[in-house]
Amino acid sequence: MNILLLGSGGRESAFAWKMSQSPLCTKLIIAPGNGGTSAYGQNVKLDPNNFNAVKALVLKENIGLVVVGPEEPLVNGIHDFFLKDDSLANIPVIGPKKEGAILEGSKDFSKQFMARHGIPTAGSRSFTSETLEEGLTYLENHITPIVLKADGLAAGKGVLILDSTKEAQEELKLMLSGKFGAAGTTVVVEEFLTGIELSVFILTDGKNYVILPEAKDYKRIGQADTGLNTGGMGSVSPVPFATEAFLKEVEQDIIIPTVEGLKKDKINYTGFIFFGLIKVGDKPYVIEYNCRMGDPETESVIPRIENDLVELFMATSQKRLNEVDLKISPKHAATVMIVAGGYPGDYEKGKTITGLDNIRQSMAFHAGTITEGGVTKTNGGRVLAITSLQDSQFEALQAATADAARIYFDGKYFREDIGFDLM
Ligand code: AMP
Ligand code: GLY
Repeated sequence: MNILLLGSGGRESAFAWKMSQSPLCTKLIIAPGNGGTSAYGQNVKLDPNNFNAVKALVLKENIGLVVVGPEEPLVNGIHDFFLKDDSLANIPVIGPKKEGAILEGSKDFSKQFMARHGIPTAGSRSFTSETLEEGLTYLENHITPIVLKADGLAAGKGVLILDSTKEAQEELKLMLSGKFGAAGTTVVVEEFLTGIELSVFILTDGKNYVILPEAKDYKRIGQADTGLNTGGMGSVSPVPFATEAFLKEVEQDIIIPTVEGLKKDKINYTGFIFFGLIKVGDKPYVIEYNCRMGDPETESVIPRIENDLVELFMATSQKRLNEVDLKISPKHAATVMIVAGGYPGDYEKGKTITGLDNIRQSMAFHAGTITEGGVTKTNGGRVLAITSLQDSQFEALQAATADAARIYFDGKYFREDIGFDLM
């Protein structure tokens, strides 16, 4: 079978690495891919949000399975586009339709969904420019810190945590007058929860689900979790504080009510659900849903899955995930992200990367890279995800961190403390 994978990040590198190992995969096309994905298949330059270009590629290459990595094409309705087109309708797409992707695409929708189905989450209220005055009064009477979230997709920048009422009121005004564009026409004002975060993932066919290995991602740019938020600077899987009892509770209180809630709401969901959770005391709460896998969580999660990923995707599209026996490696994965100097602010591209052959005990999943004439250069903020799979967490962390140090490009930066806080 010929398979099309949409996306270009470290997440897609990990998917491509794994899918290319499947005997079911005849040809893998990654669109647009990056400087490393061409090792697993063929890169094709294309914008995944240009659905007509995707269609042309699918028909030309006789694609039998489409896997959508990032959220944007899903929220924009790529799965719906396939179903509406006679020539594409029978081609399985991994990733929900618009009606499911809205769990990520609208925070207001996801809060209403959780309230409707009794899923534990921070208390919240939503406001628009019409209800601004009410919102300001609400903030006046609310304790700080308080969380403001732009309703729509804002590339990870739409969440603000404010320590003072005055600041929160100012930000609410700014957001409702267009600070985040259309994404901020509705703002969710949410109670601040104190706890430790982790990510739990399922793959669901709408009827059944399998729980994938959990992961923890490190969002801040600086050592010891300081400085600006990024897309993610590293990850580990498994997560030591996610005990068996805690994960059972996550399944009972969050996963089952979510899958059942989707059914009750007649949302036929095919694909990944990423539960961004926070452990408050012993209890899990949902911070957010995503309609895709996490990045850099995927780079730690995928190497621990022993099943054939293409077979898992086929079982998902054929609604027979109940027949799948998921085999998870007991090994520990650690991922250290190497980023461009300046990231998450302004950074330069086009720096030559050397030392990729020097790494000893890890895999280098490319993210923001481009390879031209045999030379690999930086092409984004998050450049390479260095993942090591070892018998113990300490060995995995040490190996990934040591291997990250063996790679060089001008301005390179990585956190040397990823995961060590959990030891
Ligand atoms: P989100 O985009 O919803 O994942 O939010 C980004 C980050 O903001 C999360 O990973 C948390 O670190 C933080 N955050 C969001 N909502 C809350 C909350 N209710 N309480 C505490 N921290 C939060
Ligand atoms: N690592 C967080 C995310 O993918 O949204």
